[in-house]
Amino acid sequence: MKQRKTPLQWLNDRTGLVNLIVSVAVHPVPPGARWKYVFGSAVLAAFILQVVTGIGLLTTYVSSTGGAYQSLQYITDKAPLGALLRGMHYWGASAMVVMIIIHLVRVFLTGSYKFPRELNWGSGVLLLGITAAMAFSGQIMRWDQNAVWSLVVGTEMSGRFPLIGTWLGYFIMGGDVMGSSTLSRIFAVHVFILPILLVSLAGLHLYLVLRNGVSEPPVPGRGVDPSTYRSEYQSMLREKGVPFWPEAAWRDFVFALAVVLAVLLLAWVVGPSKLDRPPDPSLINAHPRPDWYFWWYFAVLALLPYSLENYVMVLAPFLIALILLSVPLASNRGERHPERRPLAVAAVIFIFSCIAALTLAGWRENWSPRVNAPPLTADIIGVSSGPVYDGAMVFNEKACLYCHTIEGHGGKRGPDLSWIADRLTRDQMTLRIMNGAYNMPVFGRILSTTETENLLDFLATRKRPGFGVGE
Ligand code: HEC
Repeated sequence: MKQRKTPLQWLNDRTGLVNLIVSVAVHPVPPGARWKYVFGSAVLAAFILQVVTGIGLLTTYVSSTGGAYQSLQYITDKAPLGALLRGMHYWGASAMVVMIIIHLVRVFLTGSYKFPRELNWGSGVLLLGITAAMAFSGQIMRWDQNAVWSLVVGTEMSGRFPLIGTWLGYFIMGGDVMGSSTLSRIFAVHVFILPILLVSLAGLHLYLVLRNGVSEPPVPGRGVDPSTYRSEYQSMLREKGVPFWPEAAWRDFVFALAVVLAVLLLAWVVGPSKLDRPPDPSLINAHPRPDWYFWWYFAVLALLPYSLENYVMVLAPFLIALILLSVPLASNRGERHPERRPLAVAAVIFIFSCIAALTLAGWRENWSPRVNAPPLTADIIGVSSGPVYDGAMVFNEKACLYCHTIEGHGGKRGPDLSWIADRLTRDQMTLRIMNGAYNMPVFGRILSTTETENLLDFLATRKRPGFGVGE
């Protein structure tokens, strides 16, 4: 007589999934895995949290320039638990970034990227890049003043890429100007394209972790030799290996839970990031600042000389990625213990000191328009009435001053205009002011004809005797 199968046995017979899950759960891992091994699974937990809260937000978010801001206002102020949901998505993103960084540093310091785990490292670096892109595109979807300004900087970055820059800028904005096609694009990127990449790469990453095994805690003096590593690793597992669940996994579980609870707490107590005012190209007195984990990068851009900015903006992310990807290529064998790798430890300390200092600089908003710049005085202007004086007042009032310096007065976002008339003709200045640039607003619709004429009269006086391009 045929024996009846339980539903679980039936499922396993048809799919093999039950056996697979059980074998993954109890597969042997090296003993002595301590708390420093929990950060990878914390990233996964934070990611799952992002997916869940993201889907929650998706049910109400409107991805149009007219509706995005209001829909977020509605979620934050009116929707039941909406503020908590937004808060969790916001703090969850921070948690994910932080956990990835800690995980990466741990893997680097314990030399776990060495043979045979070079591609674990490589896929991890790509996951970091995609996560950064997720964080950036997520910020843009707020579509407030801050978001639009961040995107202006981002587009500027791509727009300066050699050869394909213009095309890339066009591609990101979905046209010539920042508008609804831009937001649709960012939305597709944040909700479909990047998540699909993220899930597939995370799958590959986890598969590689299972295939190559969790790295055993490093022992000073015992290096990696690719010709013997695998057989030694296997016999070590046979002799001393412990089952993943529960021996090692309970720590992962407890820590992941702690991360989720911390996110919940922050979302509840601190709440989501405050929405800036709605975007308005004529308003520069917002605090255009990306979320904190990008501050250091924007600070680098702000502190660089204007002529270098163009190259660094575009090349730096690729350079960082290349350096990170080449780590296992540079050394995939030898010592793993940090005690025996002082250079590696010094590099980590150096890089994080730099990032900390730059983050501080970015926090002080060096790179953004200076909204508290003292206005130009009659002293600097040279006259105290007439069109030139009126033009200088336009310069004060229409925020030119926030970005441009005149004889030491003003912000440093744009070029110094102290002697602009030496460099540009009146027509060239008109062109720039009317049309703006990637990082300068379009003033054509903001200034009246008289204001424009006065402004140009004023700028025409910014000339050193004996210099000049002539009219
Ligand atoms: C948000 C910051 C910002 C504001 C506000 C701003 N600018 Fe600019 N401006 C810039 C930047 C950045 C550049 C350089 C653009 C480029 O070449 O990529 C620039 C370039 C210029 C140039 C060309 C300078 C050169 O050396 O080529 C002129 C002239 C100028 N701005 C005038 C003005 C005037 C007049 C106003 C006010 C009506 C104004 N700007 C407001 C950021 C700003």
